[in-house]
Amino acid sequence: MRKKIVAGNWKMNLDLQEGIALAKELNEALTAEKPNCDVVICTPFIHLASVASVLDANLIGLGAENCADKEKGAYTGEVSAKMVKSTGAQYVILGHSERREYYKETPEILKEKVLLALANGLKVIFCIGESLEEREANKQNEVVKAELEGSVFNLSAEDFAKIVIAYEPIWAIGTGKTATAEQAEEIHAYIRGCVAEKYGAEVAENTSILYGGSCKASNAPELFAKPDIDGGLIGGASLKCADFKGIIDAWKK
Ligand code: 13P
Repeated sequence: MRKKIVAGNWKMNLDLQEGIALAKELNEALTAEKPNCDVVICTPFIHLASVASVLDANLIGLGAENCADKEKGAYTGEVSAKMVKSTGAQYVILGHSERREYYKETPEILKEKVLLALANGLKVIFCIGESLEEREANKQNEVVKAELEGSVFNLSAEDFAKIVIAYEPIWAIGTGKTATAEQAEEIHAYIRGCVAEKYGAEVAENTSILYGGSCKASNAPELFAKPDIDGGLIGGASLKCADFKGIIDAWKK
């Protein structure tokens, strides 16, 4: 059975003290009321070690939002997959549309990052998703397939099992516009079909595919009720404990 996952992506919002306080609050809330799904929080690099020390690792996974495309060496300002792992983190988000767009991360760069993350024992939350223009031209399926082919379909089936896919339509990120549950389910089923075509039905059945883009407590139950939506990757609504817990609780409905 594939995992149900609710993952937070804090992005560049909280300072260190705010991040530690939020992690503590979430850890307390989930200790008091055990979640019905895997919970992961992905934080800026500088938060990782401190947040790791306040989380119960059996209850909440920890991840970075990026890692370098080089193993080590003279790359001023970069943070390697090995460094991420050494903080206690188990995950890394790669391929987020904000990284692709603002930092010009290409499929080739992402392919390197994925390989380094896996080689260092990290699980990868790999993001894919189309722009509004591509959706309006009905190109969403070819866009997501090309993103998978460009950076993760080179992996062995064994390594692909360490990938969680996050479908995040760019037009729904931070805009308040969520894909409808039907729109999301349609493309999630398509994505699972692509995985089945490449790795076979069993691998596809075991791959968690998360939805991201203005997901909140009010729309999560409808999204998560769909057969091919295995949870969410949450931006804005992961920054307050009550909001994030509301989404986690969608798995209890
Ligand atoms: P929002 O939930 O703020 O729309 O962000 C989604 C996202 O980009 C998660 O990676």
